Amino acid sequence: MQILLLCSEYEGLIKTGGLADACYGLAINLKAAGHEVTVMLPRYAPLYSRPTGESDALFFELGGQEYGCAVRQLLSHDVDIRVVEHDDFFQRDRPYDDGKHGYADNPLRFGFFCKAALEWAKHYLPEVDIIHGHDWQTGVAAAYLKQHYAHDPVLGGIPFVYTIHNGAYQLTTDHYWFGRLGLQANDDQFLNMLEQGIRHATKLNTVSVGYRDELMTEPAANGLSALYQRRAADFFGILNGCDYQQWDPATDDALIANFSINDLSGKAQCKSHLRQRFNLAELDVPLFVAVSRITGQKGFDYLIPALRRWLANTTAQVFLVGSGDAEYCRQLYQLQHDFNAQFRFFEGFDERLAHQTEAAGDFFLMPSLFEPCGLNQLYSLKYGTVPLVRLTGGLRDTVQPWPGTAATGIGFTEISVEAMQTALEQAETLYQQPNQYQQVQQRGMLQNFSWPAAVNEYQALYLKARNVYLAEDL
Ligand code: ADP
Ligand code: GLC
Repeated sequence: MQILLLCSEYEGLIKTGGLADACYGLAINLKAAGHEVTVMLPRYAPLYSRPTGESDALFFELGGQEYGCAVRQLLSHDVDIRVVEHDDFFQRDRPYDDGKHGYADNPLRFGFFCKAALEWAKHYLPEVDIIHGHDWQTGVAAAYLKQHYAHDPVLGGIPFVYTIHNGAYQLTTDHYWFGRLGLQANDDQFLNMLEQGIRHATKLNTVSVGYRDELMTEPAANGLSALYQRRAADFFGILNGCDYQQWDPATDDALIANFSINDLSGKAQCKSHLRQRFNLAELDVPLFVAVSRITGQKGFDYLIPALRRWLANTTAQVFLVGSGDAEYCRQLYQLQHDFNAQFRFFEGFDERLAHQTEAAGDFFLMPSLFEPCGLNQLYSLKYGTVPLVRLTGGLRDTVQPWPGTAATGIGFTEISVEAMQTALEQAETLYQQPNQYQQVQQRGMLQNFSWPAAVNEYQALYLKARNVYLAEDL
């Protein structure tokens, strides 16, 4: 099939979280399965230094205004990558915000991106079989396809598959934007860009079965449960794969020493190296790590007070790397100040350090309030860093809680400081039983969350989406 992926992030090019990993993994594995894949991205400022090849000019109308842009091919990539270049909209360092606030023109920026992508396909990808969008940034493409291209010789009848990586980010904006973006208005007071995708996609999915089911009710659905229920027959859960090319401790070139299930001595070197770099003592105590966007989603409201209580009664150490919300960061610095021998916080977005941290830890903290899939726990399993997770969404689908003969991690359910603290204590108890700990660790390292399996499910979803239109043609 000829597949056009509309993405706002892509590993190796632009990344704020797991969306980048997932889009990259999907693209290269669809290609490996024999499909022709084109990835469309906005040309953000960091992409201006990348060499480009073929360039196409586009002119189109959107909401009564004329626009022009270039669509350029990025050279030296495994799959065909095209970037939509419009200096005013996209030549900014960060994709969605200035570090504090979302850009006020995000509806127009991403409405424009969607429209440009479809215009490009119409003129330059006449064999396209499937258009596949990701998250709120591409939701209106589903609406455009129906409302602007239903009778187009190229795009008419082309199915739109929509993947929700995070149902909490919706971009809800004033009703005025319906007209400004050339969309058919509905009775809603606001334009919700995620909702447009859910409403108009031919078929849709999210990134785990567990989260798919959670979205059928509130508060997980963030107000959209009725719509998810309406679309339930077209709505699936497909777990992301883990890219073991990039995330394998046996080959990872970010590590000072490689390791595998057969020889974990390299892991001890990684732990020692991280401790030295961040001035944590080399004691015989477990190292708990986390790599995270610092947002409410990741459980900081109860993680921070739980760490505060727990650190007062343990000699264990914690290392956390992340960036995001300023108030949580302030609290993390305070924790570092108060527990200076045990707690380190590195504020920043650093991909090599993310790999080194995954390798160095004995436990990985992921007490998310909700988690559509979660990739860090998959990386942790592979790196022998026992995940400590709240059993929700994709975390519940991928981590088996200890005790038990299938255990791969520590799990808890209740959202409370007490439950978090108990889970931390439980992890320490496990660590104090080396045989048990090693069994859990090694079982985790043997798990396989493969992209080829995920791609098989996407292929089936694409076929279902195509059948909708083939059936209509009969
Ligand atoms: P989410 O997409 O909700 O942030 P995931 O677990 O799916 O959660 O994916 C997070 C991805 O982002 C992982 O690849 C992780 O290593 C990366 N990441 C998050 N924060 C940082 C950071 N501060 N520095 C480097 N990588 C980070
Ligand atoms: C989102 C989700 C995360 C998921 C990622 C990739 O950012 O928060 O759970 O793993 O997308 O699908």
